[in-house]
Amino acid sequence: MSYRLELVCTSKTLLSQAQELAERLNVVLSTNTNHGNELSLLLDEGGLSLLRPDDKSLGALKIDFNDGALTWRRNHGGGTGQAVAKAVGLKQKKQLNILDATAGTGTDAFVLATLGCQVTMLERHPIVAALLEDALLRAASEPEVHCITQHMTLHQGSSIDFMKGQAENSYDVVFLDPMFPHSGKKAQVKKSMQYFRDMVGKDEDADALLAPALVLANYRVVVKRPKKSPFLNNQTPSFSQEGKANRFDIYVNKSMK
Ligand SMILES: C[S@@+](CC[C@H](N)C(=O)[O-])C[C@H]1O[C@@H](n2cnc3c(N)ncnc32)[C@H](O)[C@@H]1O
Repeated sequence: MSYRLELVCTSKTLLSQAQELAERLNVVLSTNTNHGNELSLLLDEGGLSLLRPDDKSLGALKIDFNDGALTWRRNHGGGTGQAVAKAVGLKQKKQLNILDATAGTGTDAFVLATLGCQVTMLERHPIVAALLEDALLRAASEPEVHCITQHMTLHQGSSIDFMKGQAENSYDVVFLDPMFPHSGKKAQVKKSMQYFRDMVGKDEDADALLAPALVLANYRVVVKRPKKSPFLNNQTPSFSQEGKANRFDIYVNKSMK
């Protein structure tokens, strides 16, 4: 889907930062909030967020590793018993070195970093990457989350290109969670996914992630999919793990035992 996007910044103290960001993202900078009906990025003292002025009920999207849901998950979410932790193999091996080749909001990456993993995140969409970069910067001034985000690094760009330039087996696990064609049931989808559907689209080239990921992963590639969706690249995994809303397809290169 195509969209017109502007960066709104009404704070004089943040103006030069906003100019630099607008230039980098190749979007128009506006210093008043009287904008049209399309997507807007907003930069203020609280950080960078994405808004859809035509749908006020949706609310702004800001990535915040210190928010209530992630804090609760960090303290009471079940640790290595969580589905994503089991899928990457944290029951068998600690402190995995993980490449998250489809970072998105960084939620899966943050959960894995919370559990002791070193996570390299790749995100190709420049706006999503900017939101993620902003979240990592804000986290640096919050000691409890900073000790976790210190173990997360972000690269903006195509992970297919990135992976092709890396040595074989250079990560323990490669984690893939590309966008999947959606059913249209808006109410059941998280706010971030409602924004992503408009902005990022469907990741039509998702199948091409699997082959380079299998070269890079020493132990396994983990693919997160909606429950009833076909396998990535129609390739049957070594085994699948069903979660409440998702399925994790696991392609084993080497046993972790
Ligand atoms: C479903 S979201 C990932 C959600 C993520 N697991 C989370 O916890 O928020 C998919 C993301 O992967 C990104 N993506 C898809 N293919 C990519 C590629 N080849 N290189 C880099 N990023 C990619 C998309 O831009 C999108 O932001």
